Amino acid sequence: MSNTIIVGLQWGDEGKGKIVDYLTERSDVVARAQGGSNAGHTVISGGTKYILHLIPSGILWPEKKCVIGNGVVIDPLGLLKEMEKLRSQGVHISPENLLISEHAHLTMPYHCSLDKAREARRGVNAIGTTGRGIGPTYADKIERQGLRVTDLRDPDKLTHEITWRAALHNQELESAGFEKVNVEEVVAQIVAAAELLRPHIANTVVYLNEALAEGKMVLFEGAQGSYLDIDHGTYPFVTSSNTTAGGACTGSGVSPRKIDKVIGVAKAYTTRVGGGPFVTENEAISDMLHNMGREYGATTGRARRCGWLDAVLLNYAVMVNGCDEIAITNLDGLDGLDEIKICRAYLLDGKEINHPPATIPELERCEPVYETHQGWKQDLSGLTNAADLPPLAKTYLNRLAELAGARVSLLGIGPAREQTLVVD
Ligand code: IMP
Repeated sequence: MSNTIIVGLQWGDEGKGKIVDYLTERSDVVARAQGGSNAGHTVISGGTKYILHLIPSGILWPEKKCVIGNGVVIDPLGLLKEMEKLRSQGVHISPENLLISEHAHLTMPYHCSLDKAREARRGVNAIGTTGRGIGPTYADKIERQGLRVTDLRDPDKLTHEITWRAALHNQELESAGFEKVNVEEVVAQIVAAAELLRPHIANTVVYLNEALAEGKMVLFEGAQGSYLDIDHGTYPFVTSSNTTAGGACTGSGVSPRKIDKVIGVAKAYTTRVGGGPFVTENEAISDMLHNMGREYGATTGRARRCGWLDAVLLNYAVMVNGCDEIAITNLDGLDGLDEIKICRAYLLDGKEINHPPATIPELERCEPVYETHQGWKQDLSGLTNAADLPPLAKTYLNRLAELAGARVSLLGIGPAREQTLVVD
């Protein structure tokens, strides 16, 4: 195993948690480098379903070390709840196996309130955020007025630092007609949380680089997907962090020169939650997948919007991330179809284009140019060897790889850890 970055190639929910979990076996450390409680990674192991928001999925492996890096925004109350839930499911969590970067920024209760107030202000242009305070936390970070994990170390100073920020943000909440946060209550909650989190705080930049110097293997677990990237996504319908491969380096303090491999993860079709353009969106596919009980969000429970595979997006994301390989998940979701479409280009104002345009109005005017493949009409979920895939499934995957510009190395054919096939 080499030092590997896992990234989503679509709008998140690509099934990265399962691929990370699969690759964790060959890693020593699993690190998160961006995003926050907006992420929802589902891993099914030994018949138990685990949902992870902030904690790297490596935590499910007792001997692995997990790092929440400097680029992550951490909701201390949410993190404690997640730790409690995992512990109740028998997962061991200690300062030995979960390290939290002292440089990471903190999501406070007022950030969650601001998230909702700002969404309400956007009206019909609402982004459809997860409401987890992500945008306002990163906004405070970039404005250089954020609170960081290191601030949890000193309760007296922490009280002062929370108080003036909460008062400042309460002004906005009040003028937007939203309920203000109770400053004393916030202080009390965070000071109590700080007590419990303090043993986990570390300089994770040093930790990761020392681990690499000792020859340990690090897996960087991406959250969200490339089209939610603040720079490369379908702006402004994006999240507030760099979800693409470069974000793994800035969000962890590990040099790009130490990275050996980038694996992109994509579904065999496309989904998105929240607002924003979606060229290959298709109601029939959405209905089919929802009727199968699939495609409901792990964080918010929202039904995801679904559509055909968009190879225009896939190819561009493979380029931006520099993917060496791709993992295709949820292939079994297409098992029952007579015909399967792939969008190989867009038609914009009568001209065929192969890269996504920069603006929302242009994206909204794009028509998908589809090619149609015959479905394999076979239940794939019990396969144990990629060589046994039906020929029509192989044809679909070969074409997908050709359009994406990267080889398919892993396949997901069901939610369980064992339902992952290696493609030679
Ligand atoms: P935020 O990250 O909560 O600010 O939400 C911004 C956009 O990113 C919204 O469209 C969300 O639905 C989307 N989003 C954020 N996190 C995830 C995720 O983990 N999976 C899928 N979509 C996400």
